[in-house]
Parts: sequence; structure tokens; C-alpha cells
Amino acid sequence: MRIENTFGIEAEAREVITYDSEEALREALVRIHEQYEGLPLLHIGCGSNLLFLSNFEGIVLKSNIKGFVVKEETEDDVLVEVGSGEICDEFIAQAIRNGWYGMENLSLIPGQVGAAAVQNIGAYGVEAQDVIEEVKGISLSDGTERSWKQKDCGYGYRQSIFKSELWGKYAITRVSFRLKKHFEPKLQYGGLVKAVEVAGLSKDTLTAQELRQIIIDIRRAKLPDPAVQGNAGSFFKNPVVSKEKAEHLLLEFPTMPHYPADEGKIKLAAGWLIEQAGWKGKSLGPAAVHDRQALVLVNKGGASGRDIQRLCEAIKRDVKERFDINLEPEVNFI
Ligand code: EPU
Repeated sequence: MRIENTFGIEAEAREVITYDSEEALREALVRIHEQYEGLPLLHIGCGSNLLFLSNFEGIVLKSNIKGFVVKEETEDDVLVEVGSGEICDEFIAQAIRNGWYGMENLSLIPGQVGAAAVQNIGAYGVEAQDVIEEVKGISLSDGTERSWKQKDCGYGYRQSIFKSELWGKYAITRVSFRLKKHFEPKLQYGGLVKAVEVAGLSKDTLTAQELRQIIIDIRRAKLPDPAVQGNAGSFFKNPVVSKEKAEHLLLEFPTMPHYPADEGKIKLAAGWLIEQAGWKGKSLGPAAVHDRQALVLVNKGGASGRDIQRLCEAIKRDVKERFDINLEPEVNFI
């Protein structure tokens, strides 16, 4: 069976199983253990952060757990538990309609709610970890349920325990978000204040829906639509380097974008580094670097995972040579 992925790469699994409840998942796990003893399991979302290098000789699981329930409500906020199979952007749109705020800046990021908690998705100054309170999952080996408070999720920049120690061990079933009932726009990300002005709006009267639309417009202008051209959003993480290393590079490249990161380190813009290395808009066979955002690799049509990987390696080599920086993929290679 074909595995869905936004890169549009042909990859098959022995079986792809979609479940719509915890019970259905447990039943599927029992059947998998009986029928496919010893074969590996892979849990995916919408496949918007995966690169298949070959067929997957195992079973793919996918959540279709839908819906949300309000667990707590105060004058200031709500705690809402969302099924991991909900499309994240659809939930954000619904939350805004309900008057629940905090996720506007994450608008239009592809993928499901479960994957958002695994990947700690982030954009325009907000990360999933800022609004997540609790994550629930089911063990793929024995079907038992477990929950993690936010502080136990090991969150960092595009990082979590679900991507590291617990990779392949749990299916995320529900994610609880703490959302505010009073809208406070988060505009600290470079360019957002300007974008509000350009849209003819004022930051003092801006509504959540208006901010969502601004974010959507920025993303549409820069990022390719996977339905039109296969891609997985940012292919690389933005590298985090020591202050000394950044200062050294800034002497040679004074216009290099750089931002403060944790522990006194500095985050650089991988898109800028790739563009400077001459790769923006360039192709290698059927794989290409997007012409409006060099951080995104695209499938021009008919590319295999290996084609994309070859392009990834060529970019890494050139960025290493020019800046002595090791780029790390954000996308998971399977
Ligand atoms: N830049 C270039 N050339 C390029 C691309 C970027 O010079 O081809 C420069 C920009 O001019 C800017 C800086 O690099 O000065 C940063 O660019 P941008 O604001 O577009 O964001 P990014 O750092 O490239 C990250 C996330 C995106 C997220 C945006 C906005 C990562 C890996 N990527 O991109 O996330 O939407 O910030 O917050 O952190 C994703 O993860 O799939 C994704 C799209």
C-alpha cells in the first residue's frame, strides 16, 4: 500500500492502518503482533515531514482520532484536548472562531495535531510547546496509555522526547492545549509588525483572524504548496552556533541574519546560508531548491527519496565548505 507523503515520493508499506479511537488502535496492535510478528512499525501523520529513501518493509499507522473537548475553562483561558488526527490548521481556525487564542502564528503549517506535538512545530515566534499542556499516547508494544506533562516532553527547537528517546515507541492520541480567551498578538518575529502595517491594519486593534490571514499570506508567498509541488516545508533546521563562531562569520558576512538562541548561542538562517552557497532555485536532476525560500527542497516531478537526498548532501557539502557549518535535516529520513 502506498504511503501518503507531501514530498510526493512513491513508497510502499506492507499495510497502512488508520485508527479512529484508542480502542481501534489497541485492536490493530493485537492484529499486527499476530499477523506481522517482528515487522517494524512506523507511525506517521500527514507525511509532511518525512523523506522515504525506499519502500518501508513494515506496517504504517496513522491516527484519525478527531474532535476536541474542553477540559477546563476559566475567565482567562481554556484547556482543550484535541484528537491527534485533527488537521492542526483546521483546529487553529476553529479555535479562533471559538475565541481561543495563542496558535494564530502557527496557521497553515501542514500536518496533524499529533505530529505538531512530536515535531514541536514553530513559526513566526511561536512554538507548539508554548501552548501544549499535556500529551497522551499509547504504547505500540503493549497498548498501555501514558501521558506527559509539557515539562516532561523534552521540548526544544523542533525537538521532543517523541522524536528522540521515545521514537517509534508510542502513538500520540490526544494533545491538550492551554489557550487564552483574550487575544494578545505575538508580533516580535522580524517582519510581522511591518506586515501588519502593509496590510493597512494597526497592531492595537488587530484581531486574531486578521493575524491568521497575515501569516497565511506570508507563507503562501514564500512556501510552495505541496499539492502543486512536492515538498516537506523547511528541509533543514536553522543551525545554532556558538557566539564566537557567529562573531567570526559576521566579520566576513556582516549582513548575515542571526538571532539569539538558548544558552547564549546564536541561531543562523539556513535559507540564507544555502542561498549564499549558490543553491537557491537550482536543481540536481528532479530535485530542486525552491526559488523563493532556499530552506525548502522540492520534487520537480518523479523524484525519488534518493534524488532529494543527493541534493541534500550537495548543499551540506557546499555550506560546510563556505561557512564551516554542518546543516542538519529537519525532515525525518525513513
Ligand atoms: N533567507 C534568505 N534566503 C532564503 C531564505 C531565507 O536569505 O532563501 C533569510 C531571510 O531573508 C531571513 C532569514 O533567512 O532573514 C529567515 O528566513 P525566514 O523568515 O523565511 O524563516 P526561516 O528561518 O528560513 C523558519 C522556520 C519555518 C518558519 C519560519 C517563520 C525552521 C527550520 N524553519 O524558517 O518553518 O515558517 O521560520 O517562523 O526553523 C518548517 O519548519 O517547515 C517551516 C517552514
